[in-house]
Formats: sequence, C-alpha cells, structure tokens
Amino acid sequence: MHKITILDLNEFIYKAKTSKLLEDGSFTWKAPSNIALVKYWGKREVQIPENPSISFTLSDCFTETTLGFKKRKKPAKVYKSENNITVTSRESHFDIFLDGKRKPEFYKKIGEFIIRISPLTPFISDYDLLIKTHNSFPHSSGIASSASGMAALALCIMSMEKALNPDISEELFYKKASYLARLGSGSAARSIKGELVVWGEHKDIKKSSDWYGVEFPHKVHENFKNYQDTILLVDKGEKVVSSTVGHNLMHNHPFAHKRFEQANENLSKLTEILQNGDLKAFVNLVESEALTLHAMMMTSNPYFILMKPNTLEIINKIWAFRKRINSNICFTLDAGANVHVLFPEKEKETVNAFISKELIQFCHKNEYISDSVGSGARQM
Ligand code: PMV
Repeated sequence: MHKITILDLNEFIYKAKTSKLLEDGSFTWKAPSNIALVKYWGKREVQIPENPSISFTLSDCFTETTLGFKKRKKPAKVYKSENNITVTSRESHFDIFLDGKRKPEFYKKIGEFIIRISPLTPFISDYDLLIKTHNSFPHSSGIASSASGMAALALCIMSMEKALNPDISEELFYKKASYLARLGSGSAARSIKGELVVWGEHKDIKKSSDWYGVEFPHKVHENFKNYQDTILLVDKGEKVVSSTVGHNLMHNHPFAHKRFEQANENLSKLTEILQNGDLKAFVNLVESEALTLHAMMMTSNPYFILMKPNTLEIINKIWAFRKRINSNICFTLDAGANVHVLFPEKEKETVNAFISKELIQFCHKNEYISDSVGSGARQM
C-alpha cells in the first residue's frame, strides 16, 4: 500500500506578520491544461493520489480567469454542515461566469472548493468574490477544463494572499497554488509551473509530494523539447462516467494494488527515458499507460468504456503509420474518447500531413487542436 507522508501543514497556513489592507480589486491568471504520461487513477480523501503521475503541460489549451474581490462588512459563513451538505453564503459570497454567462451549475463545485481551502486561506471569507472565466478550447469539447480552471482560480487566490502578505516567497507561492488547485481537482496540481510536472511522492523524484506538484527535476533530452500534442476531438458529449466516480471505483478494484505498483515503476522508467531521449521506449510506455488506464475502467465494477469506435480507428491508423515510416508518433488518452497524438517537433511536417489525410475524418465535425508543450501558468 502507498504510504502517505504526513505534511507539516503549518507552512501552508496563511499567517501574515503585518497584514496589508486589501479592499477590492482583481487578479487574472492564465493556466494551462496538461496531459498525463503516467496516469493518476485512484485517490483517497482529500485528493491524495494512490500513485504518482507525470504530465506534459500544454500551451494553447488554457483557462483564463479573473477573480474580482471586494471586502465584506461581515465575513461570509464558509462551512460544512453536520449532514455533510455544503453550505456557503454563496448568494452574496461568490458568483461565477463562463464566457459572460452566469453558471449556477458550478456553484456546488466552487462552494466545495472554497470550504476545502478556507482553513489555509482564511482571508477568503472576508471578501465577496466574482469569478469570470474563459477556456481557450471549445466548451464541451471533451477536454477537461477542471485542471486548467482550478489552477487558474488557485493562482488568483494566491495573488490575493500575496497582496495581503508580500513576504511570501516565490517558491511557497507556487507550491501552495498547486496544493490549493489539487483540492479543486487532482490533476490541477500539475497545471501550475513547469513543462513536465510530477504529482505524488516517488522515490526517484526529489521533493515530490502527494500534496502538490513539482517540476521534473532532471535535465530533459532535446528529443522532448517542444513536443507536439494534437488533440483529436472524437466525442464532444458529456462523459458517461465522471472521473470522480472512476477514481472511486479503484477502491476494491481487483487489479488496483498491481496498477499502483506499475505506475511507480513506469515513473522510474520514464524518469530515465526523459533524460536519455529513448523515443521508442517513450512510445511504448506512454501507450501502455493510456491503455492501462482504460483497462482499469473496463475491469472495475460497475465497468464502463469511454473509448468510441473512432478512438480505436485512430489508434490502429497510428500504429500502421508508425510501422510504415518508422515514426515516433504515439497516442495517449485521458478519461474520455479523444485521442492525444504525441510526436517530436522534428516530425511535425510528416505527422501533420498524416493527421490531415488519415485521422481527421474520425473527429467530430473534423475538429482537432494542435498544441505543444508549454511552461506553465502566467499572470496577466
Ligand atoms: O483530476 P481528475 O480527478 O479529473 O482526474 C484526471 C485523471 C486522468 O485525466 C484520467 C489522468 C491524469 O493523470 O490526468
């Protein structure tokens, strides 16, 4: 079983020596989406991963969020009631807009997030909050906006903290942002800073933690510089099973223990591969991780399948193309039917031609997004 190192939370608790006055204002952050190479699937309370994971940070898929705030006369009540029902004085405490439209369907998730983070950011209840958010990728494209969305919001809240307490170091700023983002959505912990981010304690990654993401600490081989990720939008519908439900199905899963062990081993192997530039080994490991993730879904109970016939068509085409021209193209999947096509920058021309000619026909309305590795969130 994965042992959790108990974190000394003290470091993360807001404590300003001389708190500055902050009446009203706003902060804006742009935070990227990420794509896991070694997957996180299975967690325990609160948002602690059962195994470590690593992801490429994306560049063009991002959420941009502006957090407006205004000091309240009386602090808002932020708590969980006895029967575990989320209660916040939301009406006056926060509101959220996506692309200019009020989104009541997000109240529960954001309310829950505020409850979770308030012990570490107690100043939050002193303000009314107005969250305005926008995703660069089409809404309901099947690309999860929870990672980039929660990361952007966590960073805005950290900017408030920094305004109140300018003494906070840059290192703690980003570490705590990742910690807070994790409480909103696990994979959001990996959407803060760095091209390759590890979340979850691992023996080969110094300073790695279950509580926040850290930048991959080793020098990465140039084969992986500016790696390309073309996201093929196979299915744009709502997922039949949410990732929260999926994670929970790893409890009592017959293969869970072995899977968590394998993820640890794969992260060790990938740590070497990323340094020695072995693209063939990369392709093998990344595709195996993707298929294992979906195998876990198919072998849980209840079982489910998120891949669609076109997902498999694309995978088979990628395999045939790779063999035909000895390419280093490969695929990965997240919890959905879309396919992330990964390839080195120097194969861009040939692979793009292949994607246009053979893969786009399997996308919903021929839609896809050409992205590449990015370096993390930015304040606007
Ligand atoms: O962050 P969540 O709870 O949406 O889980 C994400 C899980 C996967 O995308 C399937 C894998 C990963 O590591 O990102």
